[in-house]
Amino acid sequence: MSTPPRLEVQNLTRRFDGRSVVDDVSFSVLAGQVACLLGPSGCGKSTTLRIVAGVDMQDSGRISVDGNLVCDTVFRVPPERRAIGLMFQDFALFPHLSVAENVAFGLRGGAQANRDRVAELLDRVQMGNHIDSYPHQLSGGEQQRVALVRALAPRPRVLLMDEPFSGLDERLRDGIRDETLALLKEEGTAVLLVTHEPVEAMRMADQILLMRDGRIVQQGAPYNLYNAPADRRVAGFFSDLNILPGRVKGALTRTPFGEFLTPGMKDGTEVEIVIRPQHLKIDFDRNGQGPAPTAENGSAAHARVVRARYLGRESLVEFVTDQDAITLSATVPGAFLPPAGTPMWLMLRRDRVFVFPKA
Ligand SMILES: Nc1ncnc2c1ncn2[C@@H]1O[C@H](COP(=O)(O)OP(=O)(O)O)[C@@H](O)[C@H]1O
Ligand SMILES: [Mg+2]
Repeated sequence: MSTPPRLEVQNLTRRFDGRSVVDDVSFSVLAGQVACLLGPSGCGKSTTLRIVAGVDMQDSGRISVDGNLVCDTVFRVPPERRAIGLMFQDFALFPHLSVAENVAFGLRGGAQANRDRVAELLDRVQMGNHIDSYPHQLSGGEQQRVALVRALAPRPRVLLMDEPFSGLDERLRDGIRDETLALLKEEGTAVLLVTHEPVEAMRMADQILLMRDGRIVQQGAPYNLYNAPADRRVAGFFSDLNILPGRVKGALTRTPFGEFLTPGMKDGTEVEIVIRPQHLKIDFDRNGQGPAPTAENGSAAHARVVRARYLGRESLVEFVTDQDAITLSATVPGAFLPPAGTPMWLMLRRDRVFVFPKA
């Protein structure tokens, strides 16, 4: 018999004033896994988390932990008996309690009885020497680490985190994210992390649950969502996109880059051929001659530079194609700043192209 997932959410729906804010949401998280509920503001992430925590109630659907029912529409384990830890954006520490007392807050016996566990956890986030400090003596990043170990101290089966890093200085975030991830992995907790930042989800998640208008539109490993997006909006959530508009004729769509196979789409269907800026290749113009077509890159399109900007790690170059006057952006590592009007040849990495019916 296979072990049930640590957290299982089935067909969860929550309506406010007749509107489904969470709409038939299903997913599961294994022990030791980090799942990121990712989506724009207002798409229903926090509501989903609040229902799992037990501070809000679903209209339909069920939630189980390790195969045991936690709540459905008739049965409900109270929040404090769910073995679910919480860490929200405003992770307020208790100002009148020391760091040790804060971390021990949810533990039977308090700070004295749990001195070892508290010290060990604080050591693991480099806060061991602040054990007797008070919250006001700590920086934002330090308070955040205390809040994390406070949530982990009772060894929750599931840890829910709602935008936990958004209050932190941009430059602190990556370090704290990595440190947090390392500790979560050591503890083996199942984590459901809410974020609206794709970079954060890519960095933290074993599994991304991409949410839009209350529904999960795609779930899978970061690699899968990035490289096999379900639709153009999923693709566009992770980076800027170049769009070549087209119309299907005889299972093919014609573009300045030659023809693309668009099988299974009826003649006349409007499609969007989509490619990320880093997958556009640039070649110099040699007296009007361009590179020969290849299987990998298809045929080249002649284009002119509109503008080029230096962004530090890379340069962003905008082009307009001769044929069809399509505006396209390419990112090039390092400094590459051709003057406006420079003729060039562009190619698309064919294996990185997505074809979607026009939305
Ligand atoms: N208690 C409530 N009553 C009415 N509407 C609510 C309530 N809670 C959330 N909503 C609405 O539900 C939608 C989703 O909210 P939320 O889950 O907080 O989104 P997210 O966390 O993805 O930004 C929003 O439109 C919000 O206004
Ligand atoms: Mg929210």
